[in-house]
Amino acid sequence: MIHYTLNGKTVQYDGDPERALMNVLREDLGIISPKDGCAPQAACGCCVVQVDDKAMLSCVTKMEKVAGKSVTTTEGLGEYRQNVFANAFVKEGGVQCGFCIPGIVMQANNLINRNPEPNRADIEKCLTPHLCRCTGYKKIVDAISTAADAIRNEEEVELPDVGGGIGTRLPKYHAQDLVLGQHRYVDDIRLEGMKIGALKFSDHPRALVKAMDLSAAAAHPGVLRVLTADDIPGDRHIGLIKQDWPLMIAVGETTRYVGDVLACVVAETDEIAREAVALIDVDYEVLEPVTDMHAAMQEDSPSVHEGGNILSQSITNRGDLEQAMANAAYTAHGVYETQMIEHGFMEPEACVAYPHPPAPSAKMRE
Ligand code: FES
Ligand code: FES
Repeated sequence: MIHYTLNGKTVQYDGDPERALMNVLREDLGIISPKDGCAPQAACGCCVVQVDDKAMLSCVTKMEKVAGKSVTTTEGLGEYRQNVFANAFVKEGGVQCGFCIPGIVMQANNLINRNPEPNRADIEKCLTPHLCRCTGYKKIVDAISTAADAIRNEEEVELPDVGGGIGTRLPKYHAQDLVLGQHRYVDDIRLEGMKIGALKFSDHPRALVKAMDLSAAAAHPGVLRVLTADDIPGDRHIGLIKQDWPLMIAVGETTRYVGDVLACVVAETDEIAREAVALIDVDYEVLEPVTDMHAAMQEDSPSVHEGGNILSQSITNRGDLEQAMANAAYTAHGVYETQMIEHGFMEPEACVAYPHPPAPSAKMRE
């Protein structure tokens, strides 16, 4: 039995001591401010909570490590600090999608407890474990600085009175909830009786899937179903421009990247579903992947999709190029490329499905 303090109250836990604190907070106790942006990779900082006087990544903090300690999340900051942080982030424009912010608030709270007058370098250093794909960090630093000033001087952070006419800069809608992690993202939605699905992705960017043994996953306690391409009725292909992306790769087909899905395990909990995914045994014939755009355009390149590797061709002409080249004093030839851009949102891709009209039991769990 593990005893610890959570937001000022003594709590006991008698489950697996190796379980992650984040899962216990989110799944067992319904505390949604620590967000799961990358668990268990420990790369985003969205799940930071305070454990005694340390800011810790709750996704990789085992329950045995919190025995006898005090865990604080934004829910336990107290009304004064909640208001200060919420208004400081809103006032400084330091919150956009908000997914990264509750973890940053707990990191900032810990910093301010240790150092009530942090300078910008102190704040930037404490943000090292955190990723924010929206704000560009400057406004987050501004917000933490504003919060620190207010806390040090025992003041509130007032939001400007903007009236509300057309053209005025209004505080972001519902932003206080975003800052404190109380806005429900898809991964925070829980319905009564909800089951969780986890996906088995391809282990290789390009491989023929020769066979899949699902028996161990299906027999794992708590697993309800293991679904494959055979369970998808009708056409499995989706895509915005061309519908050539199969929702799942069937046995006998070839994968195109490591994001291709081979199976989906449906289970009672997220942890069980992921454990069962790890039990799926796939027999592959590993093939050379196509990883270079120029090589992919060669005639002898393997086709990633049926019909070849060129999605579309666009030619733009303006004026008389040949004439202009002939008349030019100097000409230059170059190949120009832009950088690769990955949208890289912090919120995990997730969806919740329920029968419509909802089953009588499908109520939002508080
Ligand atoms: S969820 Fe913990 S660091 Fe990303
Ligand atoms: S506000 Fe930081 S990820 Fe969106």
